[in-house]
Amino acid sequence: MAVNMKGKSLIEINHLSLEEIYQIFDLSKTLKEKLITGEPHKLLEGKTLGMIFSKPSTRTRISFEAGIYQLGGMGMYFNQNDLQLKKSESVSDTAKVLSRYLNGIMIRTFDHQDVIDLAKFGSIPVINGLTDLHHPCQVLTDLFTVLEKRRVLKGLKLVYIGDGNNMAHSLLHGCSKVGMDITIASPSGYMPLKEIVEESKVNAKYMGSKIEITEDPVKAVSGADIIYTDVWASMGQEKEAAERRKKFIQYQVNKELVKNAKDDYIFMHCLPAHRGDEVTDEICDSPNSVIFDEAENRLHVQKAIMALVM
Ligand code: CP
Ligand code: NVA
Repeated sequence: MAVNMKGKSLIEINHLSLEEIYQIFDLSKTLKEKLITGEPHKLLEGKTLGMIFSKPSTRTRISFEAGIYQLGGMGMYFNQNDLQLKKSESVSDTAKVLSRYLNGIMIRTFDHQDVIDLAKFGSIPVINGLTDLHHPCQVLTDLFTVLEKRRVLKGLKLVYIGDGNNMAHSLLHGCSKVGMDITIASPSGYMPLKEIVEESKVNAKYMGSKIEITEDPVKAVSGADIIYTDVWASMGQEKEAAERRKKFIQYQVNKELVKNAKDDYIFMHCLPAHRGDEVTDEICDSPNSVIFDEAENRLHVQKAIMALVM
């Protein structure tokens, strides 16, 4: 039976039930097929999505904007610098005002609390398009992409190599929710937040899957169905890039490292990739790589999310 998600905000994956996650995947598949066959699917005719960005974006901005248009609605882009938000107006007042104009808000920003507050004080759904803590739209898309490739999620092993950042956090939540084993290999001092690991362990226990956190990328990759990586310095950490490069050098996904994975492992990256740092060209462009399918699927999955919550 369909779960009613109308009005629901997407702040982090852990706020979604397994039924809601699969409902998003089912609708993503339908909308992808309709787009390919040219069948109209204007599920959000006349609706408006406000898109607030305080960090750069290629995939998130363009896939949300194209997506809302394909659904019959309209996207409005705002650079946070152009808004009164957090300068001369509180998040709560902005949330209340935007709720009088729009049908939904997508926001990419630094402080995760701002997304929580927008949803709390506004009366329209808020979709997290990346914060320092989480990137739920990306990970829902990644899981949908794995489902397309493997037909099943439960029981697969995903290994994330690199910084314990927003991607690691959302992957922990996402994989544990759907019963995938997840191993995170990060250098000491760059591990994912303990609180998020603990929340994911609760999910994993319920689903009968495993979570492993290690400093050893070689051991981690053993038996991997999916190898995932992300940049060593995220947006906002550019000044730390040189120092991080030294600490992360053994965490590069390259030909040597992937030898320990299953032969038919899938390589994933949320992009943008810093080729030559966290991953080599050879891996990015190998037949195992699905990085551009992931990027494409952002469109279909976010259309499903918007159609369900707006
Ligand atoms: N993966 C991702 O969110 O890409 P952008 O930063 O280009 O939006
Ligand atoms: N961890 C990266 C993800 C980019 C999609 C960042 O926050 O910059």
